[in-house]
Amino acid sequence: MKIFVDSADLDEIKELASWGIVDGVTTNPTLVKRSGRSFQEIIEEIFTIVDGPISLEVLSEDADGMIQEAKEIVSKVSKKYQKNVAIKIPMNPEGLKAVKKLSKEGIQTNVTLVFSSNQALLAAKAGASFVSPFIGRLDDMGHEGMQIIEEIVDIFENYDFETEVIVASIRHPIHVIQSASLGAHIATIPPKIIRQMVKHSLTDKGIQQFLDDWRDVKK
Ligand code: G3P
Repeated sequence: MKIFVDSADLDEIKELASWGIVDGVTTNPTLVKRSGRSFQEIIEEIFTIVDGPISLEVLSEDADGMIQEAKEIVSKVSKKYQKNVAIKIPMNPEGLKAVKKLSKEGIQTNVTLVFSSNQALLAAKAGASFVSPFIGRLDDMGHEGMQIIEEIVDIFENYDFETEVIVASIRHPIHVIQSASLGAHIATIPPKIIRQMVKHSLTDKGIQQFLDDWRDVKK
């Protein structure tokens, strides 16, 4: 399973990328706001950190506006990184129209705010490169978010869709294990949760014990 960082915090992305575990990045307007940087600053730097799909969201509400915004974003990225741009498009009829046109023009799309398997199926049919089901937000509503991941993975396999499933709105490390067990292509994970994944108290205790014992070895 590929791991994307769900963040617009460039320092965090840089640090995690240095671990060798980052295959891409997803951002959204909330994450950009949280980073304290301008969208322009992020676009200029983020592609130099990770050589993989970088999702950047459009805000227009009609298909023509989304397509125009998508092209503006691509034009702001230096030529060598343009292949990595994935335009995040909201899941609604206007979004589907935009996805269809952008995919025909060879621009990658990530259909976001997906909350059902039917929405994912429609996005794949329109030609989306990625779909992003938000499982944490479904859990918050009292649903079993992971259930739709299982369904979407099955549906895409049944019909050989090339669309990749990005499990989004991940809230804890167990969501990551479940995503991988179900065969999701990608999990986009907040930095805090990646840090929880790497940690185990027995590892820390073991390292400390080896260091202490080594100090007592006859020199
Ligand atoms: O990429 C966006 C998605 O992961 C949002 O997560 O925690 O705001 O539901 P959350």
